[in-house]
Amino acid sequence: MMRFMILVALLCLVNCKPKWTQLQNYTFEKYIRDFQKEYKADSEEYLTRKKIFEQNLADIIAFNKEDHSYKKGVKNNTDESYFEKKEQFSIFKSQVDFEILDPSTRKFNQTYKAKGLKNLPQSVDWREIGVVSPVKDQGDCLSCWAFTAVSVLESHAAIAAGSGNLKTLSTQQLVSCVPNPKQCGGQGGCFGAVADLAFEYTSQYGITSEFKYGYKSYFNDTYECKFDPLKQQPEVINQGFAKVTPNDQQALLEAVATIGPIAISIDSTGWDSYEEGVFDGCDYSENINIDHAVVLVGYGTDPKYGDYWLVRNSYGTEFGEDGYIRIKREAVPQCGIDSTPTNGFACGGDETPIKVCGMCGILSDSSYPLNVKVIV
Ligand SMILES: *[C@@H]1O[C@H](CO)[C@@H](O)[C@H](O)[C@H]1NC(C)=O
Ligand SMILES: *[C@@H]1O[C@H](CO)[C@@H](O)[C@H](O)[C@H]1NC(C)=O
Ligand SMILES: *[C@@H]1O[C@H](CO)[C@@H](O)[C@H](O)[C@H]1NC(C)=O
Ligand SMILES: *[C@@H]1O[C@H](CO)[C@@H](O)[C@H](O)[C@H]1NC(C)=O
Repeated sequence: MMRFMILVALLCLVNCKPKWTQLQNYTFEKYIRDFQKEYKADSEEYLTRKKIFEQNLADIIAFNKEDHSYKKGVKNNTDESYFEKKEQFSIFKSQVDFEILDPSTRKFNQTYKAKGLKNLPQSVDWREIGVVSPVKDQGDCLSCWAFTAVSVLESHAAIAAGSGNLKTLSTQQLVSCVPNPKQCGGQGGCFGAVADLAFEYTSQYGITSEFKYGYKSYFNDTYECKFDPLKQQPEVINQGFAKVTPNDQQALLEAVATIGPIAISIDSTGWDSYEEGVFDGCDYSENINIDHAVVLVGYGTDPKYGDYWLVRNSYGTEFGEDGYIRIKREAVPQCGIDSTPTNGFACGGDETPIKVCGMCGILSDSSYPLNVKVIV
């Protein structure tokens, strides 16, 4: 019995939200405890919050007594006024600033360097803990960069806030609203760009949900930006992004094992007919044409085909292994040359060949957003 009560108390720390049926005698003091608010007793803030909460609670109870087909409950923001809830979103800009969003001059915040971690797990698959959304389909539009950024943001938000917070974020917002003045990895929108540009954009504008700004570029139209932060209220925001040391296998392994899914760039030229297994179809002696952005979701070892990287694509679930492809992970990665770097990689028409390592150049260009937060 004692054990049971301790368990209940512990569970309560995590999730002790009252049901609507328990609100009759509910108080601000209980609310503070249940939602782990940190207001100093009798401070000005405490008194203001208490007043707002009590008014909102009275409204909720009154509503629930009326004849409606649904009930209202208390939430983390029941101590905020309607005006405040709306006001939160006015800090987001709605005008895109082309000056700031220039990846050819941008500075990423930090580089993930290999730490030489020895005890990395034998295999990693972030899907197993419920922080990876179902596979999506970019259609005819070259929006792989946007799908990649969205998927990584969704996962990092869920890792930070708990898997109950796995969101479906708006790819269309990125396709239509992220400018690409220096033509990094393409001409922008359905003509290609890079995930880093998206991470930089979402640091400033946040990103709303798929349901408020749905994907419609499937048939290859970019469409003009229709993002209004007051209406579509961003749900997730990040603060800049990090790059993983290019062509360093240990660094990428550590990053995907300890931080979360990672946005990567890759040569997908030979993927058309891939159905299942561990792909090793890129030839290091030929041009490694980095032309695609995808998400690295983990790694492992196939009993028959050996070590692989687990990669999420955005060609629907019919592609490969339920939308995923496994790419050969070599014990000692070899290197090749990308002599067509403007297809999905370089900026401003810079055709200088780039050294790329790992099967299909998988180690060449990896990044992830920093401090990803769920705002609503
Ligand atoms: C609320 O409190 C009143 C009087 O203090 C009591 O009669 C009533 O049963 C309580 N209601 C609930 C739902 O606990
Ligand atoms: C709940 O609200 C408080 C402020 O009232 C905020 O600091 C906290 O981050 C919120 N928690 C969640 C999970 O939104
Ligand atoms: C998308 O549109 C561009 C420009 O009109 C065209 O070159 C390309 O072939 C189209 N892609 C598909 C898959 O239809
Ligand atoms: C990344 O850099 C930007 C721009 O300097 C800054 O606003 C942001 O806070 C930085 N992020 C982190 C996690 O330090």
